[in-house]
Amino acid sequence: EKGGYDYFMLKEIAEQPRAVADTLLGRIGADGRLTLDEMRISDRELREVDKIIIVACGTSYHAGLIAKYAIEHWAGLPCEVELASEFRYRDPILSRSTLVIAISQSGETMDALMAVRHAREQHAKLLGICNVNGSTLPRECDGVLYTHAGPEIAVASTKAFLTQLVAVYLIALYIAQVRGTKFGDEVFAMIQLLAQMPEKVDEVLGTMEPVRELARSLAGEKSVLFLGRHVGFPVALEGALKLKELAYMHAEGFAAGELKHGPIALIEPGLPVIVVVPPRSRDVLHDKIVSNIQEIRARGARTIVIAEEGDTSVEPYADTLIGVPAVPTLFQPLVTTVPLQVFACELATAKGHDVDQPRNLAKSVTVE
Ligand code: M6R
Repeated sequence: EKGGYDYFMLKEIAEQPRAVADTLLGRIGADGRLTLDEMRISDRELREVDKIIIVACGTSYHAGLIAKYAIEHWAGLPCEVELASEFRYRDPILSRSTLVIAISQSGETMDALMAVRHAREQHAKLLGICNVNGSTLPRECDGVLYTHAGPEIAVASTKAFLTQLVAVYLIALYIAQVRGTKFGDEVFAMIQLLAQMPEKVDEVLGTMEPVRELARSLAGEKSVLFLGRHVGFPVALEGALKLKELAYMHAEGFAAGELKHGPIALIEPGLPVIVVVPPRSRDVLHDKIVSNIQEIRARGARTIVIAEEGDTSVEPYADTLIGVPAVPTLFQPLVTTVPLQVFACELATAKGHDVDQPRNLAKSVTVE
């Protein structure tokens, strides 16, 4: 049942290109436009939306954080992202024209369900992004967009995360298409590029041996930091979460711009710091992070840099360089997350942990 792999997690990491392809299947028409009929929220209703709030937990929350960048950019709508457990106890300002998107792989996470009920009481429109057919979340929402990752057995979410990203890109691009935002041509081009992402994820998977080697060499470390900017920031959070839950190691993700506001004090000689570098095409963003890498390296950190293949500008400052295929900035999490999943999985395995069943964790958290 593990398809020849030692762990479900390894199998699920390997299944990501197919999972991404399946989530795109049937949603991009021959004319290059998106159709999301099964979503059950009409185009008219979508045109009325003036604010989006995303609620989720854990890895699904990280997908939500990435969604914010895509929704603001393409759909041109204000978007807030909330931990479901916090949203539920706040007094959020919602109305009939607010779209609340709940992201949950299992569709059974109690915090997410309670957040949805809280939003319903205030008459918001509710859209679920969910991987499990027949689970509770889709029943509690007005509409649903299923991810087609297939069953995810390992406690640590991998393929579900990548398909959640595809789902949020589809929603952001679809809203842009329906509302006709100023990025019309870009939206059309992005839909075409999204269709190529399964190959890009596959490419990354083919180059993971050095990442595994690196992970084994760091099994004795106490702490690992993760840095990113823009959509690389949630990727850093996700990399840290994976390492915590699988390797039981102190790991933290930071927005690289926050370094000088505190976290840089943590940098000491030999500390492994993994940095996610935006594409070279985003020059200002890119240059900023290159100077962050220089800063931490000057303080003796061991820099592990994930950057676009051929990005020679980071070479002088990277103790280890992990190349990923060039893709548009907003899609970059699809390729930069994969090395972090492989890294955490391999490091935890080197420490002798069962990566499918980490201690103290359950696959779906059905209590608050
Ligand atoms: O089923 P959900 O997506 O609602 O689950 C949310 C979190 O419990 C989940 O993502 C958790 O953080 C994973 N173990 C992360 O790998």
